[in-house]
Amino acid sequence: MLGPDLARTLDLAAAAVRQARYVVALTGAGVSVESGIAPFRGPGGIWTKYGEPSPLDFKRFTADPRAWWESRVADERENRRPEWKDFERAQPNPAHIALARLELTGVLRHLITQNVDGLHARAGSRRITEIHGNRYRLRCLDCGERFPRHEFTFEQLPPRCPPCGGVLKFDTVMFGEPIPPDALRTARAEALRADCMLVVGTSAVVHPAAELPMLTRQNGGVIIEINPEESALTRACHLSLRGAAGVVTPELAALVEGVRD
Ligand code: APR
Repeated sequence: MLGPDLARTLDLAAAAVRQARYVVALTGAGVSVESGIAPFRGPGGIWTKYGEPSPLDFKRFTADPRAWWESRVADERENRRPEWKDFERAQPNPAHIALARLELTGVLRHLITQNVDGLHARAGSRRITEIHGNRYRLRCLDCGERFPRHEFTFEQLPPRCPPCGGVLKFDTVMFGEPIPPDALRTARAEALRADCMLVVGTSAVVHPAAELPMLTRQNGGVIIEINPEESALTRACHLSLRGAAGVVTPELAALVEGVRD
């Protein structure tokens, strides 16, 4: 049962979504928390537990890709990051499913995610930009081509790009690594085109993703946040739905669909 304030704000949010011409979503780790994947910051966060990676991560990788891959393969073999198993067990939760449904009914026109877990696609979303990449893909540093991770055995390290021979890395964007230009271009274009953005489960502290809602806002768009906590974006939001994504997002979708003409 939702509290009266949340219920009232939900009605306002549903009205704003219904009136909008082009709704876009930006999601962060919070949307996958109810799928059993830890966030990065705050209680139980990965960076809270292990410390935030160095901004030199990407530089270290490019300086010696073979050493990086050998260390990573050893970490996986020794199960040094038990949280990696959470990704294998994770299933889309009601938030992912509600966002996919909003796309199916033509309400949500594009979804930009900072998550690398692939759960939005598994929930049925199709119009997705993975601005921080995807953990199930490798990407060539030379030609930018992306390949399914399962197609590689990692016997030869670093793995090489089949067409061009370039060094492959996980598609997941490292600290210190530029966002792949194709993803950033699409994300910015969608944020500029939107007249309403749903910001779901992000602390909004990492750039350039955190700038995307401001692009929508500067064009007069409405920013609606779904997060149990305040975030760095809260002050810029027109409406903040203080609750868990897995609870609030389906409620919002139901209100939007229930009275959509
Ligand atoms: N529903 C909605 N939001 C939630 C939930 C939930 N059930 N649980 C937690 N949250 C919120 C937290 O309050 C927080 O604001 O999700 C947010 C998670 O913040 P972060 O852990 O910082 O994750 P994110 O914002 O996605 O981080 C951005 O930082 O390290 C990089 O590449 C990493 O993509 C990541 C980026």
